[in-house]
Amino acid sequence: MPFRIATFLIASLAIGAGAVGIFGWKFGWLGAWLGAVLWLALDAWRAERLLQVLRNDAAGLPTRGPGVWGELSERIRKLLRDREQQTRQAEDRLQEFLAAIQASPNGVILLDEQGRIEWCNQTAAGQFGIDAERDLLQHLANLVRDPAFVAYLASWNYSRDVVIDASGPGHTHQRSHPVRLSVQVHPYAGNRRMLLTRDITALEQAEAMRRDFVANVSHEIRTPLTVLAGFVETLQNLPLDADERTRYLALMGQQSHRMETLVNDLLTLSRLEGSAAPSGSQWIRIRALLAQCEDEGRGLSGRLAPLGHRLSFTIDAESELSGAPTELQSAMSNLLSNAIRYTPGGGEVAVSWRVLPDGRGEYAVKDTGPGIAAEHIPRLTERFYRIDRSRSRETGGTGLGLAIVKHIAQRHGAELRIESMVGKGSRFALVFPAARVREARVLAK
Ligand SMILES: Nc1ncnc2c1ncn2[C@@H]1O[C@H](COP(=O)(O)OP(=O)(O)O)[C@@H](O)[C@H]1O
Ligand SMILES: [Mg+2]
Repeated sequence: MPFRIATFLIASLAIGAGAVGIFGWKFGWLGAWLGAVLWLALDAWRAERLLQVLRNDAAGLPTRGPGVWGELSERIRKLLRDREQQTRQAEDRLQEFLAAIQASPNGVILLDEQGRIEWCNQTAAGQFGIDAERDLLQHLANLVRDPAFVAYLASWNYSRDVVIDASGPGHTHQRSHPVRLSVQVHPYAGNRRMLLTRDITALEQAEAMRRDFVANVSHEIRTPLTVLAGFVETLQNLPLDADERTRYLALMGQQSHRMETLVNDLLTLSRLEGSAAPSGSQWIRIRALLAQCEDEGRGLSGRLAPLGHRLSFTIDAESELSGAPTELQSAMSNLLSNAIRYTPGGGEVAVSWRVLPDGRGEYAVKDTGPGIAAEHIPRLTERFYRIDRSRSRETGGTGLGLAIVKHIAQRHGAELRIESMVGKGSRFALVFPAARVREARVLAK
């Protein structure tokens, strides 16, 4: 201010002195005052201009002009520029932060003190069928009507989560199973709440499968165990002659053998699940694998059917297969033993190996058995899934064979193909990728 007053004084003195010089003392003072008023008017005009620009648009500030107003506008301009930059940076950070939450596979919803939606990510919007823009500031309890959820939200006791069905359109209609959501609320900043949702469908399904599996195993073991216990009781309580004893003991042997097979299959499965996939460096000749199959097959056929089966084994191209020998043998024998066990005596079972035009190798077992209805086919590889339970049991099946085959196939990158028609027989094939098949080095008879 002193600077301004000084400027004002000096200017009016200068103009005054000039005026005195020209007009003499009489009109000189008048001139000085006129000058001062003019100066003031000019000053006011420049201040007004600055104010006007500030009111409307800071970018329109005059670039550095002369004097105080020039400096003032320059400083304001700089301050505003810094502030603008800060705001932009903060905005960018916020956007990045929101993008990160958007990318989360979990749903996130922020509620204000009244329980209205302040923000939600796409995942949550999809799960609840909320429109992230249209439903803003709507009460969440009005949009998600699940009674368990509404009660949970109103309870203000969020020590545990609540599990509900997803209600979003994409999450219910197009799927056979409803999507299950675990929702947990976390209060923050006083009465605000953050909802986190997690899709636990797969988790629940895995849990259900585990329960089924345990129930199945228990059931499978209990059956022979009950029979065994019955025989033990008979042996203890009844006086039996040597022949009867032998017969009973043979039956007991059968039951314990059944349990043993089951436990072995279970162990095989868990080994397959728990170990790394076999490397591609070990090569086994198809002829050797098929020879073993033939041995086992003829033995089984002879035991099961007095007539036996017409078994044939053909190899189109002498090849080698890479993988784990015991696993490959087990998968191939499993398919053959099924064909023999489910095809009545006198039927035909043809085992073949061929290399397809694209280099893949196919091991196939074709039988003239009862065939399998289409609805069963997709489920055959499920553990303990059997079409004819008693036939499976009678012939020593555990219901785990095809589950094991499927696992082994997957580990070798192979595909299990099942074709069947009721009354016509079935064809089970394992198609191995070309990378695991090569021509046999040494040709043997
Ligand atoms: N070649 C086949 N012909 C008819 N049914 C078959 C054949 N192979 C498998 N199945 C059916 O698939 C079911 C599952 O087979 P698998 O997993 O090997 O168990 P299992 O121990 O009962 O043989 C069998 O119980 C049987 O009903
Ligand atoms: Mg089987």
